[in-house]
Amino acid sequence: MTYKLKCVACGAEYSPQEIRYSCDCKGLLDAEHPLASLRVSRELFDRRLAERWGRPFSPLTASGVWRYRELILPLDEGQIISRPEGNTNLYHSPQLSTWVGLAGLYLKHEGENPTGSFKDRGMTVGVTQAKLLGSKAVACASTGNTSASMAAYAALAGLSAIVFIPEGKVALGKLAQALAYGAKTLEVKGNFDAAMRLVHRVCNELGIYLLNSINPFRIEGQKSIVFEMVQQLGWRVPDWIVLPAGNLGNVSAFGKALGELAELGLIERVSRLAAIQAHGANPFYRSFTGGFRSRETVEAQTLATAIRIGDPVSYLRAVQALRLTGGLVAEVTDEEIMDAKAQVDSAGIGCEPASAAAVAGTKKLVREGAIRPGDRVVAVLTGHHLKDPQATLDYHLGKLEGTIPAYANRPMVVEPTLEAVREALG
Ligand code: F0G
Repeated sequence: MTYKLKCVACGAEYSPQEIRYSCDCKGLLDAEHPLASLRVSRELFDRRLAERWGRPFSPLTASGVWRYRELILPLDEGQIISRPEGNTNLYHSPQLSTWVGLAGLYLKHEGENPTGSFKDRGMTVGVTQAKLLGSKAVACASTGNTSASMAAYAALAGLSAIVFIPEGKVALGKLAQALAYGAKTLEVKGNFDAAMRLVHRVCNELGIYLLNSINPFRIEGQKSIVFEMVQQLGWRVPDWIVLPAGNLGNVSAFGKALGELAELGLIERVSRLAAIQAHGANPFYRSFTGGFRSRETVEAQTLATAIRIGDPVSYLRAVQALRLTGGLVAEVTDEEIMDAKAQVDSAGIGCEPASAAAVAGTKKLVREGAIRPGDRVVAVLTGHHLKDPQATLDYHLGKLEGTIPAYANRPMVVEPTLEAVREALG
């Protein structure tokens, strides 16, 4: 076997053939690749990118995940379950740069993945591994996107999918996806953190394969967001990568990706990570301001339901990612999130509320001076704007509790006459 699973807390090693998500010491497991012996280069990945349209149905070149397979999971074409995913755009919007106050702002739009969120990058790897291990059923707890993604990839692979979601707290588009893709959907009376604890127990007791980001193969796939972004920038890393933070899988994946690229000599230095949380769901921010001396938890509350998480499972991995990259954690209010979303939307790009936290956070860090005017920054938009149409409507109709929408665009009702239209258009 070319790689192994290693505990991030005590360093104990396990075989990837074994179904386990944590060490005997309870620490999380990471895949460790034999980096020194890998034959990878910028040229290899550039060549595969160029071949993308030549063999459009081969995940080995068409997928923005499997293109980097030596650094993720070294498999053959026939073993891989792929849509294919990745290949998301990197945008530069003069309107947004002006609003944020930063000329060098880029947006990596992970909402352009097959099911509309970055989760597909981890799920293609997680479901592929489930199939390799011979699992018949997969499960996850989710604030919505993970369940939508897992349901789709399980359907592709012919596996049963069981999703655990917090009752009444999942955005419309995401719930609709889970049902449409055929997942058995359990609405748990409780919050995401309760659903997470429950699914862990259920998977252990019933022999179902767990596909939350506690699963190391999910993390491996999500590293490709960074690989692809850096490749799109001509292998020059941005000064900062800003991303929304909930269960902390992505922060962990980004730190691991940057560390590996640097060790391989594919990049000259690592970007700094800025993890952004909603003020009402800010356990990681609280731990950060306390110098990571203690692991904080909260009863989470935010309009950005994707990151409504009070007890993130990948805490330790995420702390390591911030230490490695000299990163930081910031918090933003729901009003800042929704105003940032309105700006991303009206720039013609669009994203869901949690994703807009990255843009709101960037603006705040520029204002406070942590991000300097000449810095090059990639903010990651994690989900598509159609995931949560209710939040968008409520914002523009002024119906969001405790929020005054600075950029509301209300619809107008008019009589069917030319005069009425003239008056409405001013
Ligand atoms: N943005 C979106 C759109 C998400 O769906 C999530 C997480 C995050 C950001 C935060 O990423 O958990 O890696 O820190 N959604 C999970 C879910 C929890 O169940 O869909 P994270």
